[in-house]
Amino acid sequence: MHITKFFPKDLFADHTVFVTGGGSGINFGVAKNFAALGAKVGMCGRSADKLERASAELGEMGAQVFAQTADVRDYGALESVLQATESKLGAIGTLVCAAAGNFICPAEQLSPNGFKSVVDIDLLGSFNACRAAFSQLQKTRGSIVFISAGMSIIPYFAQAHVGAAKAGIDNMMRNLALEWGRFGIRSNSIVPGPIEGTEGMRRLAPGDLGKKLKKSIPLGRYGTTDEIGQAAVFLASPLASYITGTVLVVDGGQTLPGS
Ligand code: HXC
Ligand code: NAP
Repeated sequence: MHITKFFPKDLFADHTVFVTGGGSGINFGVAKNFAALGAKVGMCGRSADKLERASAELGEMGAQVFAQTADVRDYGALESVLQATESKLGAIGTLVCAAAGNFICPAEQLSPNGFKSVVDIDLLGSFNACRAAFSQLQKTRGSIVFISAGMSIIPYFAQAHVGAAKAGIDNMMRNLALEWGRFGIRSNSIVPGPIEGTEGMRRLAPGDLGKKLKKSIPLGRYGTTDEIGQAAVFLASPLASYITGTVLVVDGGQTLPGS
């Protein structure tokens, strides 16, 4: 993988990363980049099939993997996966809060439960993961990486639910940086731009909409799951040891005013 040309292959030897929603898309790309540098990988998601496929691929890369189904909205289920991860792989050094849900729906048509579902998965689910992993992160003086979205920075049509959830995540990220710095725990967010081949882009920019969107991006292309994985690796690495409370925008310039 590209990342092994720039970072030592044993950077994360004896390091456990846990990725919520790690079985697909961007989040699986994050898991693979950590695995390529020697990390042990824990994951959860709702679908056992996705987790099995992802675990098999990570196993082929030589990674030690533990994956179990859990809905991030269910604190008890998440807590039990995180505890099992510690006993199988060792205490978590990097927590990636990345599980999310999205659909296009104008606010005047969105039901309260539709709004709540997305906020519960993205925002409450991220808090649940941080809270349940706290004691492990305290032991490792580890770090948290949140996967946010451009909707946190600028409003998008028909995305009121996602904007609220992701802006909430970025503010919670800063609160945790402030509160947990005293435990040596760092907390940062990544805002991915449109990433090729992902469920998010299939839902938000199908067909011709995708072509138009590409033209509006200053770098003129979609990003890749590896480009988000590389940013996550950087934020979790010793190179970022004094970085906490930041939002790292990895979007080809998409959210710049005027783009
Ligand atoms: C309007 C919708 C809807 C839609 C669901 N709802 N889909 N409303 N338009 N397309 C409403 C339902 O009617 C219901 O409200 C409520 O949401 C909950 O629906 P459920 O089906 O019970 O939800 P649940 O099973 O919890 O599934 C969550 C989900 C689903 C978010 C709705 O789409 C999902 O599981 N998504 C996960 C995968 C995903 O979205 N990946 C993309 C991530 S991309 P009522 O009132 O009827 O009860 C991303 C940002 C990308 O996050 C940014 C790109 C730039
Ligand atoms: P994706 O493949 O659908 O990833 C979402 C993952 O979260 C899936 O593996 C899903 O698995 C899991 N998940 C969803 N609801 C869950 C729940 N309640 N509990 C546990 N796991 C749950 O979509 P993606 O596009 O790659 O998105 C990944 C992340 O990047 C998300 O945080 C998204 O907001 C962010 N993002 C994406 C883009 C983009 O261009 N795609 C841009 C900006 C930000 P199950 O369905 O099996 O649970």
